[in-house]
Amino acid sequence: MRLCLTVPCLALICSLVCFASTRDQRAHGASLFATSGCMHCHSIHHAGGSKAPDLSGVGRRLNEIQMRQQIISGSMRMPPFGDELQASELADLLTYLRSCRDKKE
Ligand code: HEC
Repeated sequence: MRLCLTVPCLALICSLVCFASTRDQRAHGASLFATSGCMHCHSIHHAGGSKAPDLSGVGRRLNEIQMRQQIISGSMRMPPFGDELQASELADLLTYLRSCRDKKE
């Protein structure tokens, strides 16, 4: 009987912890987007610069591997950030960008 209660309770606690940590990662990613200089060129949800594509819907357009590649290596008009971001910061930034899925930009 006790086991019947323990298992669902554990499952519930685990899913709550996972949910909270994704939310924290996203919030941290959003603040990194502002503090790492991304907003100098890019906008998300009408905040930021206009030198580079708006990223409000980037989570629909690109997958995580493509975004990671772009951020680490940069491109013609974007500097590389591979040396500036810690692995955990990059992960949080990607979690945030993947959640940016606006249909209209
Ligand atoms: C100096 C301006 C500049 C800065 C700073 C910058 N970017 Fe970019 N970024 C660009 C430009 C311009 C492009 C479009 C590709 C190109 O022309 O090189 C781009 C493309 C991208 C793309 C691909 C978008 C798409 O739709 O294909 C992502 C994702 C991205 N940047 C994320 C970031 C993140 C995250 C940061 C901060 C860590 C950042 N960028 C900082 C200029 C910048």
